[in-house]
Amino acid sequence: MATERTFSIIKPDATRRNLTGAVNAVIEQAGLRIVAQKRIHMTQAQAEAFYGVHAARPFFRDLVTFMISGPVVVQVLEADNAVARYRDVMGATNPANAEPGTIRKLFAESIEANSAHGSDSLENAAIEISYFFAGTEIVG
Ligand code: CMP
Repeated sequence: MATERTFSIIKPDATRRNLTGAVNAVIEQAGLRIVAQKRIHMTQAQAEAFYGVHAARPFFRDLVTFMISGPVVVQVLEADNAVARYRDVMGATNPANAEPGTIRKLFAESIEANSAHGSDSLENAAIEISYFFAGTEIVG
């Protein structure tokens, strides 16, 4: 298996409840290395651009409003098979369907306030990482 990098966001519902460290513990216990991390407050323009692929979806406006409702922690995670591994670690988008022990089962409040985002493909991971991080900020 190849070493990959994926992009992660610890969402405002989790930072609001002081769960950054708890989420990071689940990430690290799953064998993913946090090779870049910063806490930011996204602007509306950043959130709209980041979620642009969902612009036509009925939940888009609420999603953007939620993502700018408080700080988030953006991260780059590295591991063998990091994209798929992190999606397993996060669990299903809707926490009601997430497996026990996953970030969303443990911490999420709803399908919108679902504590974590992770890239859905290696191609999107590269795009999402470059949106928030310079190469020099990623230290493997
Ligand atoms: P995320 O992985 O960040 O990608 C898009 C987000 O939209 C998703 O997680 C959910 O938090 C949010 N969302 C809100 N409502 C829905 C919905 N009905 N279906 C899918 N995603 C939703």
